Amino acid sequence: MTDILIRGRVLTFISEPQGIDDDASYRYFEDGAVLVRGGKIVTSGVYADVRKLAAADIKVEDHRPNLILPGFIDTHLHFPQTQAIASYGAQLLEWLNTYIFVEEQKFARPAHAAEVAGRFMDELLSNGTTTAVAYCSVHPESVDAYFSAAEQRGMGVIGGKVMMDRNAPEALRDTPERGYDETKRLIEKWHGRGRARYAISPRFAITSTPEQMEMSKALVSEHPDCYVQTHLSENLDEIAFATSLYPAAKDYTDIYARYGLLNERTLLGHCIHMSDREISVLAESGAVGVFCPTSNLFLGSGLFDSARFDRLGACWSVATDVGAGTSFSMLETMDEAYKVLHLRGQRLTPLNSFYRMTRGNAVALGLEQEIGSLEPGVTADIVILDSRAKPAMEYRMRTARSLIEELFILQTMGDDRCIAEVYVAGKAMKKARRAMADRQLETA
Ligand code: GUN
Ligand code: ZN
Repeated sequence: MTDILIRGRVLTFISEPQGIDDDASYRYFEDGAVLVRGGKIVTSGVYADVRKLAAADIKVEDHRPNLILPGFIDTHLHFPQTQAIASYGAQLLEWLNTYIFVEEQKFARPAHAAEVAGRFMDELLSNGTTTAVAYCSVHPESVDAYFSAAEQRGMGVIGGKVMMDRNAPEALRDTPERGYDETKRLIEKWHGRGRARYAISPRFAITSTPEQMEMSKALVSEHPDCYVQTHLSENLDEIAFATSLYPAAKDYTDIYARYGLLNERTLLGHCIHMSDREISVLAESGAVGVFCPTSNLFLGSGLFDSARFDRLGACWSVATDVGAGTSFSMLETMDEAYKVLHLRGQRLTPLNSFYRMTRGNAVALGLEQEIGSLEPGVTADIVILDSRAKPAMEYRMRTARSLIEELFILQTMGDDRCIAEVYVAGKAMKKARRAMADRQLETA
Protein backbone atom coordinates (compact mmCIF):
# COMPACT_ATOMS: atom_id res chain seq x y z
CA MET A 1 0.00 0.00 0.00
CA THR A 2 1.39 3.41 -0.95
CA ASP A 3 2.06 6.15 1.55
CA ILE A 4 -0.23 9.16 1.65
CA LEU A 5 0.07 12.53 3.26
CA ILE A 6 -3.25 14.04 4.32
CA ARG A 7 -3.01 17.80 4.72
CA GLY A 8 -5.41 20.09 6.58
CA ARG A 9 -6.21 21.36 10.08
CA VAL A 10 -5.40 18.42 12.36
CA LEU A 11 -7.27 17.85 15.64
CA THR A 12 -6.78 14.83 17.90
CA PHE A 13 -7.44 14.29 21.60
CA ILE A 14 -4.97 13.08 24.22
CA SER A 15 -7.25 12.99 27.27
CA GLU A 16 -10.73 13.92 28.45
CA PRO A 17 -11.10 17.72 28.36
CA GLN A 18 -11.55 19.19 31.84
CA GLY A 19 -13.36 22.40 31.00
CA ILE A 20 -14.43 24.55 28.08
CA ASP A 21 -10.92 25.45 26.86
CA ASP A 22 -8.66 22.71 28.25
CA ASP A 23 -5.95 23.00 25.64
CA ALA A 24 -3.81 20.33 27.29
CA SER A 25 -6.41 17.72 26.29
CA TYR A 26 -5.81 17.91 22.54
CA ARG A 27 -3.25 18.55 19.80
CA TYR A 28 -4.20 20.99 17.05
CA PHE A 29 -2.16 22.00 13.99
CA GLU A 30 -3.53 24.82 11.85
CA ASP A 31 -1.34 23.75 8.91
CA GLY A 32 -1.10 20.11 9.80
CA ALA A 33 -0.70 16.74 8.17
CA VAL A 34 -1.10 13.03 8.85
CA LEU A 35 1.36 10.59 7.30
CA VAL A 36 -0.21 7.20 6.52
CA ARG A 37 1.68 4.02 5.62
CA GLY A 38 0.12 0.57 5.14
CA GLY A 39 -3.21 1.79 6.51
CA LYS A 40 -1.65 3.02 9.77
CA ILE A 41 -0.67 6.43 11.02
CA VAL A 42 3.09 7.03 11.02
CA THR A 43 2.80 10.46 12.58
CA SER A 44 0.73 13.63 12.65
CA GLY A 45 1.76 17.20 13.33
CA VAL A 46 2.88 20.42 11.65
CA TYR A 47 2.79 19.96 7.85
CA ALA A 48 6.34 21.20 7.25
CA ASP A 49 7.73 18.69 9.81
CA VAL A 50 5.64 15.73 8.66
CA ARG A 51 6.44 16.50 5.00
CA LYS A 52 10.17 16.02 5.70
CA LEU A 53 9.53 12.43 6.82
CA ALA A 54 7.78 11.52 3.56
CA ALA A 55 9.23 10.63 0.16
CA ALA A 56 9.56 13.56 -2.27
CA ASP A 57 6.98 12.04 -4.64
CA ILE A 58 4.45 11.10 -1.93
CA LYS A 59 0.76 11.44 -2.82
CA VAL A 60 -0.60 14.49 -0.98
CA GLU A 61 -4.34 14.74 -0.35
CA ASP A 62 -4.90 18.39 0.41
CA HIS A 63 -8.04 19.08 2.44
CA ARG A 64 -7.32 22.65 3.52
CA PRO A 65 -9.17 24.48 5.08
CA ASN A 66 -11.10 21.45 6.38
CA LEU A 67 -10.49 19.73 9.69
CA ILE A 68 -8.85 16.29 9.97
CA LEU A 69 -10.07 14.18 12.90
CA PRO A 70 -10.12 10.51 13.83
CA GLY A 71 -13.18 8.71 12.38
CA PHE A 72 -16.24 8.72 14.61
CA ILE A 73 -17.13 5.70 16.76
CA ASP A 74 -20.75 4.68 17.41
CA THR A 75 -21.03 2.37 20.43
CA HIS A 76 -24.66 1.18 20.12
CA LEU A 77 -27.02 0.73 17.19
CA HIS A 78 -29.12 -1.92 15.46
CA PHE A 79 -28.31 -2.70 11.85
CA PRO A 80 -31.65 -4.50 11.14
CA GLN A 81 -33.48 -1.29 12.10
CA THR A 82 -32.03 0.76 9.24
CA GLN A 83 -35.40 0.85 7.49
CA ALA A 84 -37.41 1.28 10.70
CA ILE A 85 -36.07 4.71 11.74
CA ALA A 86 -38.95 7.18 12.21
CA SER A 87 -41.63 4.69 13.26
CA TYR A 88 -44.37 6.79 14.79
CA GLY A 89 -45.94 7.29 18.12
CA ALA A 90 -44.92 4.67 20.68
CA GLN A 91 -42.70 4.21 23.71
CA LEU A 92 -40.18 1.38 24.01
CA LEU A 93 -42.20 -1.82 24.56
CA GLU A 94 -45.03 -0.90 22.19
CA TRP A 95 -42.50 0.35 19.61
CA LEU A 96 -40.59 -2.96 19.78
CA ASN A 97 -43.74 -5.04 19.37
CA THR A 98 -45.41 -2.89 16.73
CA TYR A 99 -42.49 -2.09 14.47
CA ILE A 100 -39.18 -3.65 15.37
CA PHE A 101 -40.15 -7.27 15.93
CA VAL A 102 -41.92 -7.13 12.57
CA GLU A 103 -38.98 -5.53 10.75
CA GLU A 104 -36.36 -7.89 12.19
CA GLN A 105 -38.22 -10.95 10.86
CA LYS A 106 -37.18 -9.92 7.34
CA PHE A 107 -33.59 -10.79 8.26
CA ALA A 108 -34.35 -14.50 8.02
CA ARG A 109 -33.71 -13.89 4.30
CA PRO A 110 -29.93 -13.69 3.71
CA ALA A 111 -30.39 -11.57 0.56
CA HIS A 112 -32.29 -8.96 2.54
CA ALA A 113 -29.72 -9.01 5.35
CA ALA A 114 -26.89 -8.55 2.83
CA GLU A 115 -28.59 -5.64 1.10
CA VAL A 116 -29.35 -3.80 4.35
CA ALA A 117 -25.87 -4.49 5.74
CA GLY A 118 -24.29 -2.83 2.69
CA ARG A 119 -26.54 0.20 2.97
CA PHE A 120 -25.90 0.37 6.71
CA MET A 121 -22.10 0.45 6.32
CA ASP A 122 -22.31 3.04 3.54
CA GLU A 123 -24.58 5.20 5.68
CA LEU A 124 -22.13 5.01 8.59
CA LEU A 125 -19.29 6.06 6.31
CA SER A 126 -21.33 8.90 4.78
CA ASN A 127 -21.66 10.20 8.32
CA GLY A 128 -17.97 9.86 9.14
CA THR A 129 -18.42 6.82 11.39
CA THR A 130 -15.66 4.29 10.86
CA THR A 131 -16.30 1.96 13.83
CA ALA A 132 -19.70 0.73 15.03
CA VAL A 133 -20.92 -1.63 17.71
CA ALA A 134 -24.18 -3.08 16.41
CA TYR A 135 -26.82 -5.61 17.25
CA CYS A 136 -27.73 -7.96 14.42
CA SER A 137 -31.04 -9.89 14.36
CA VAL A 138 -31.55 -13.30 15.95
CA HIS A 139 -30.59 -14.94 12.63
CA PRO A 140 -26.92 -16.00 12.32
CA GLU A 141 -27.08 -15.07 8.62
CA SER A 142 -27.59 -11.44 9.64
CA VAL A 143 -24.27 -11.56 11.50
CA ASP A 144 -22.53 -12.97 8.43
CA ALA A 145 -24.05 -10.16 6.36
CA TYR A 146 -22.93 -7.53 8.90
CA PHE A 147 -19.31 -8.64 9.22
CA SER A 148 -18.99 -9.38 5.48
CA ALA A 149 -20.17 -5.87 4.57
CA ALA A 150 -17.65 -4.36 7.03
CA GLU A 151 -14.85 -6.62 5.79
CA GLN A 152 -15.49 -5.61 2.16
CA ARG A 153 -14.96 -1.99 3.21
CA GLY A 154 -12.02 -2.67 5.53
CA MET A 155 -13.94 -1.41 8.55
CA GLY A 156 -13.29 -2.52 12.12
CA VAL A 157 -16.69 -3.25 13.65
CA ILE A 158 -18.08 -5.07 16.67
CA GLY A 159 -21.39 -6.92 16.68
CA GLY A 160 -23.36 -10.04 17.42
CA LYS A 161 -26.58 -11.96 17.02
CA VAL A 162 -29.26 -11.02 19.53
CA MET A 163 -30.30 -13.89 21.75
CA MET A 164 -33.98 -13.83 22.71
CA ASP A 165 -36.13 -16.77 23.82
CA ARG A 166 -39.30 -15.16 25.19
CA ASN A 167 -41.59 -12.12 24.90
CA ALA A 168 -41.04 -11.90 21.15
CA PRO A 169 -42.75 -13.45 18.11
CA GLU A 170 -41.93 -17.10 17.56
CA ALA A 171 -40.08 -16.33 14.34
CA LEU A 172 -37.60 -14.23 16.34
CA ARG A 173 -37.08 -16.60 19.24
CA ASP A 174 -34.15 -18.93 19.66
CA THR A 175 -33.74 -21.26 22.63
CA PRO A 176 -31.05 -21.21 25.33
CA GLU A 177 -29.21 -24.02 23.54
CA ARG A 178 -29.59 -22.59 20.05
CA GLY A 179 -28.60 -19.11 21.17
CA TYR A 180 -25.49 -20.60 22.78
CA ASP A 181 -24.54 -22.84 19.83
CA GLU A 182 -25.12 -20.17 17.19
CA THR A 183 -23.22 -17.54 19.18
CA LYS A 184 -20.33 -19.96 19.71
CA ARG A 185 -20.11 -20.72 15.98
CA LEU A 186 -20.26 -17.03 15.10
CA ILE A 187 -17.51 -16.19 17.59
CA GLU A 188 -15.32 -18.90 16.07
CA LYS A 189 -16.05 -17.61 12.59
CA TRP A 190 -15.75 -13.86 13.11
CA HIS A 191 -14.08 -12.82 16.36
CA GLY A 192 -10.56 -11.66 15.49
CA ARG A 193 -10.98 -12.25 11.74
CA GLY A 194 -9.35 -9.15 10.25
CA ARG A 195 -10.73 -6.20 12.19
CA ALA A 196 -13.95 -7.93 13.34
CA ARG A 197 -14.80 -8.43 17.01
CA TYR A 198 -17.77 -10.25 18.49
CA ALA A 199 -20.26 -8.96 21.07
CA ILE A 200 -22.25 -11.56 23.03
CA SER A 201 -25.75 -10.04 22.84
CA PRO A 202 -28.62 -11.16 25.09
CA ARG A 203 -31.06 -8.47 23.90
CA PHE A 204 -32.32 -7.55 27.38
CA ALA A 205 -33.65 -9.27 30.50
CA ILE A 206 -37.23 -9.17 29.20
CA THR A 207 -36.51 -11.30 26.13
CA SER A 208 -34.21 -13.83 27.80
CA THR A 209 -35.29 -16.54 30.25
CA PRO A 210 -33.07 -17.32 33.24
CA GLU A 211 -31.89 -20.37 31.27
CA GLN A 212 -30.74 -18.15 28.40
CA MET A 213 -29.04 -15.82 30.86
CA GLU A 214 -27.16 -18.86 32.24
CA MET A 215 -26.03 -19.66 28.71
CA SER A 216 -24.94 -16.05 28.21
CA LYS A 217 -22.94 -16.31 31.43
CA ALA A 218 -21.22 -19.42 30.10
CA LEU A 219 -20.41 -17.70 26.80
CA VAL A 220 -18.91 -14.70 28.61
CA SER A 221 -16.72 -16.87 30.81
CA GLU A 222 -15.63 -19.04 27.87
CA HIS A 223 -14.85 -15.99 25.70
CA PRO A 224 -13.53 -13.31 28.07
CA ASP A 225 -12.07 -11.27 25.22
CA CYS A 226 -15.47 -10.83 23.50
CA TYR A 227 -17.64 -7.80 24.15
CA VAL A 228 -21.04 -8.06 25.84
CA GLN A 229 -23.93 -5.82 24.90
CA THR A 230 -27.45 -5.50 26.27
CA HIS A 231 -30.02 -2.87 27.31
CA LEU A 232 -30.56 -1.50 30.82
CA SER A 233 -33.00 0.93 32.46
CA GLU A 234 -34.29 2.70 29.38
CA ASN A 235 -37.99 3.04 30.21
CA LEU A 236 -40.07 2.82 33.40
CA ASP A 237 -42.45 0.12 32.09
CA GLU A 238 -39.45 -1.87 30.89
CA ILE A 239 -37.83 -1.69 34.33
CA ALA A 240 -41.05 -2.82 36.08
CA PHE A 241 -41.44 -5.74 33.66
CA ALA A 242 -37.78 -6.82 33.81
CA THR A 243 -37.60 -6.74 37.60
CA SER A 244 -40.91 -8.66 37.86
CA LEU A 245 -39.34 -11.44 35.77
CA TYR A 246 -36.32 -11.68 38.10
CA PRO A 247 -37.84 -11.18 41.58
CA ALA A 248 -34.70 -12.28 43.42
CA ALA A 249 -32.60 -9.48 41.88
CA LYS A 250 -32.04 -6.29 43.91
CA ASP A 251 -32.76 -4.14 40.86
CA TYR A 252 -32.43 -4.25 37.05
CA THR A 253 -28.62 -3.94 37.11
CA ASP A 254 -28.41 -6.81 39.59
CA ILE A 255 -30.06 -9.13 37.03
CA TYR A 256 -27.04 -8.76 34.76
CA ALA A 257 -24.60 -8.81 37.68
CA ARG A 258 -26.02 -12.14 38.91
CA TYR A 259 -25.38 -13.70 35.51
CA GLY A 260 -21.78 -12.48 35.34
CA LEU A 261 -22.47 -10.16 32.44
CA LEU A 262 -20.80 -7.03 33.79
CA ASN A 263 -17.16 -6.46 32.96
CA GLU A 264 -15.03 -3.79 31.31
CA ARG A 265 -16.05 -4.99 27.83
CA THR A 266 -19.79 -4.71 28.62
CA LEU A 267 -21.85 -2.01 26.91
CA LEU A 268 -25.20 -1.23 28.52
CA GLY A 269 -27.55 0.74 26.31
CA HIS A 270 -29.37 3.70 27.88
CA CYS A 271 -28.93 3.47 31.71
CA ILE A 272 -31.32 6.37 32.29
CA HIS A 273 -33.35 5.54 35.42
CA MET A 274 -30.54 4.26 37.62
CA SER A 275 -30.03 4.41 41.38
CA ASP A 276 -26.64 5.41 42.76
CA ARG A 277 -26.20 1.80 43.80
CA GLU A 278 -26.64 0.62 40.23
CA ILE A 279 -24.21 3.17 38.79
CA SER A 280 -21.69 2.20 41.47
CA VAL A 281 -22.01 -1.44 40.40
CA LEU A 282 -21.11 -0.36 36.85
CA ALA A 283 -18.16 1.62 38.21
CA GLU A 284 -16.86 -1.38 40.17
CA SER A 285 -17.24 -3.80 37.27
CA GLY A 286 -15.93 -1.41 34.60
CA ALA A 287 -19.13 -1.81 32.52
CA VAL A 288 -20.00 1.14 30.30
CA GLY A 289 -23.32 3.03 30.26
CA VAL A 290 -24.20 4.11 26.71
CA PHE A 291 -25.87 7.50 26.24
CA CYS A 292 -28.20 7.47 23.19
CA PRO A 293 -29.70 10.97 23.12
CA THR A 294 -31.72 10.98 19.87
CA SER A 295 -33.25 7.62 20.81
CA ASN A 296 -34.03 8.66 24.37
CA LEU A 297 -35.86 11.73 23.12
CA PHE A 298 -37.60 9.93 20.24
CA LEU A 299 -39.04 7.16 22.44
CA GLY A 300 -39.70 9.59 25.31
CA SER A 301 -37.48 7.41 27.50
CA GLY A 302 -35.83 10.06 29.69
CA LEU A 303 -32.70 12.14 30.25
CA PHE A 304 -29.31 10.48 30.77
CA ASP A 305 -27.37 11.87 33.75
CA SER A 306 -23.69 11.99 32.79
CA ALA A 307 -22.68 14.05 35.84
CA ARG A 308 -23.83 11.24 38.14
CA PHE A 309 -21.82 8.71 36.13
CA ASP A 310 -18.77 10.97 36.48
CA ARG A 311 -19.35 11.54 40.18
CA LEU A 312 -19.69 7.82 40.90
CA GLY A 313 -16.71 6.97 38.70
CA ALA A 314 -18.59 4.99 36.04
CA CYS A 315 -17.61 5.05 32.38
CA TRP A 316 -20.06 6.24 29.70
CA SER A 317 -19.97 6.40 25.94
CA VAL A 318 -22.17 7.94 23.24
CA ALA A 319 -24.16 6.31 20.45
CA THR A 320 -26.89 6.83 17.86
CA ASP A 321 -29.03 3.75 18.70
CA VAL A 322 -30.47 3.66 15.19
CA GLY A 323 -33.40 2.82 14.65
CA ALA A 324 -34.88 4.29 17.86
CA GLY A 325 -32.16 6.84 17.28
CA THR A 326 -33.21 9.16 14.51
CA SER A 327 -29.90 9.79 12.75
CA PHE A 328 -26.71 7.98 11.76
CA SER A 329 -24.83 11.23 12.31
CA MET A 330 -22.66 11.46 15.42
CA LEU A 331 -22.67 15.25 14.92
CA GLU A 332 -26.46 15.32 15.20
CA THR A 333 -26.23 12.89 18.11
CA MET A 334 -23.93 15.22 20.05
CA ASP A 335 -26.23 18.15 19.25
CA GLU A 336 -29.03 16.27 21.04
CA ALA A 337 -26.66 15.14 23.82
CA TYR A 338 -25.90 18.78 24.53
CA LYS A 339 -29.63 19.58 24.78
CA VAL A 340 -30.44 16.58 26.99
CA LEU A 341 -27.68 17.48 29.44
CA HIS A 342 -28.76 21.12 29.30
CA LEU A 343 -32.21 20.03 30.53
CA ARG A 344 -30.39 18.28 33.39
CA GLY A 345 -28.59 21.54 34.24
CA GLN A 346 -25.32 20.07 32.92
CA ARG A 347 -22.88 21.29 30.25
CA LEU A 348 -21.33 19.23 27.51
CA THR A 349 -18.50 21.36 26.15
CA PRO A 350 -17.63 21.31 22.42
CA LEU A 351 -14.23 19.81 23.19
CA ASN A 352 -15.88 17.10 25.26
CA SER A 353 -18.33 16.29 22.44
CA PHE A 354 -15.57 15.76 19.93
CA TYR A 355 -13.51 13.85 22.48
CA ARG A 356 -16.50 11.56 23.15
CA MET A 357 -17.13 10.77 19.46
CA THR A 358 -13.49 9.82 18.94
CA ARG A 359 -11.02 8.97 21.68
CA GLY A 360 -13.63 8.81 24.46
CA ASN A 361 -15.57 6.06 22.73
CA ALA A 362 -12.32 4.28 21.84
CA VAL A 363 -11.34 4.31 25.53
CA ALA A 364 -14.81 2.99 26.46
CA LEU A 365 -14.15 0.06 24.10
CA GLY A 366 -10.57 -0.41 25.37
CA LEU A 367 -9.38 0.20 21.80
CA GLU A 368 -7.50 3.49 22.17
CA GLN A 369 -4.29 1.87 20.92
CA GLU A 370 -6.07 1.07 17.65
CA ILE A 371 -8.68 3.75 16.88
CA GLY A 372 -9.96 7.13 18.05
CA SER A 373 -6.85 9.28 17.63
CA LEU A 374 -4.21 10.33 15.08
CA GLU A 375 -1.28 9.04 17.12
CA PRO A 376 1.51 6.90 15.59
CA GLY A 377 0.55 3.24 15.18
CA VAL A 378 -3.19 3.82 15.21
CA THR A 379 -5.23 2.62 12.21
CA ALA A 380 -5.82 5.47 9.73
CA ASP A 381 -9.59 5.75 10.20
CA ILE A 382 -10.02 9.45 9.57
CA VAL A 383 -12.81 11.95 8.90
CA ILE A 384 -12.49 15.26 7.06
CA LEU A 385 -14.96 17.88 8.28
CA ASP A 386 -16.17 20.87 6.31
CA SER A 387 -17.60 23.46 8.70
CA ARG A 388 -19.03 25.48 5.81
CA ALA A 389 -20.89 22.67 4.06
CA LYS A 390 -24.32 24.32 4.26
CA PRO A 391 -25.07 27.93 3.35
CA ALA A 392 -26.31 28.69 6.87
CA MET A 393 -23.11 27.19 8.30
CA GLU A 394 -20.92 29.15 5.91
CA TYR A 395 -22.69 32.34 6.97
CA ARG A 396 -22.42 31.49 10.68
CA MET A 397 -18.74 30.58 10.30
CA ARG A 398 -17.95 34.14 9.16
CA THR A 399 -18.40 35.23 12.77
CA ALA A 400 -16.59 32.28 14.41
CA ARG A 401 -13.42 33.33 16.17
CA SER A 402 -12.01 30.11 17.63
CA LEU A 403 -11.66 26.39 17.07
CA ILE A 404 -14.01 25.74 19.98
CA GLU A 405 -16.69 27.94 18.43
CA GLU A 406 -16.24 26.12 15.13
CA LEU A 407 -16.64 22.71 16.78
CA PHE A 408 -19.87 23.84 18.42
CA ILE A 409 -21.21 25.09 15.07
CA LEU A 410 -20.30 21.75 13.47
CA GLN A 411 -22.13 19.76 16.14
CA THR A 412 -25.15 22.07 16.31
CA MET A 413 -25.69 22.72 12.62
CA GLY A 414 -23.80 19.86 10.97
CA ASP A 415 -24.84 16.57 9.41
CA ASP A 416 -23.60 14.22 6.67
CA ARG A 417 -23.06 17.17 4.35
CA CYS A 418 -20.11 18.15 6.53
CA ILE A 419 -18.28 14.89 5.83
CA ALA A 420 -15.94 15.95 3.02
CA GLU A 421 -14.11 12.60 3.05
CA VAL A 422 -13.73 9.53 5.22
CA TYR A 423 -10.70 7.23 5.25
CA VAL A 424 -10.86 3.61 6.34
CA ALA A 425 -7.39 2.22 7.07
CA GLY A 426 -5.99 4.94 4.84
CA LYS A 427 -8.39 4.42 1.92
CA ALA A 428 -10.52 7.41 0.83
CA MET A 429 -13.97 5.86 0.77
CA LYS A 430 -16.00 8.70 -0.72
CA LYS A 431 -13.54 9.09 -3.57
CA ALA A 432 -13.61 5.32 -4.16
CA ARG A 433 -17.40 5.33 -4.29
CA ARG A 434 -17.47 8.25 -6.71
CA ALA A 435 -14.96 6.49 -8.97
CA MET A 436 -17.06 3.32 -8.90
CA ALA A 437 -20.23 5.24 -9.76
CA ASP A 438 -18.42 6.95 -12.65
CA ARG A 439 -17.23 3.58 -14.00
CA GLN A 440 -20.79 2.22 -13.78
CA LEU A 441 -22.05 5.25 -15.71
CA GLU A 442 -19.42 4.75 -18.42
CA THR A 443 -20.30 1.09 -18.92
CA ALA A 444 -24.08 1.71 -18.81
N1 GUN B 1 -34.41 -2.66 24.27
C1 GUN B 1 -34.42 -3.92 23.79
N2 GUN B 1 -34.31 -3.92 22.45
C2 GUN B 1 -34.21 -2.64 22.08
C3 GUN B 1 -34.06 -1.99 20.81
O1 GUN B 1 -34.01 -2.61 19.75
N3 GUN B 1 -33.99 -0.63 20.84
C4 GUN B 1 -34.04 0.09 22.00
N4 GUN B 1 -33.96 1.41 21.94
N5 GUN B 1 -34.18 -0.50 23.19
C5 GUN B 1 -34.26 -1.84 23.23
ZN1 ZN C 1 -30.50 -0.59 21.39
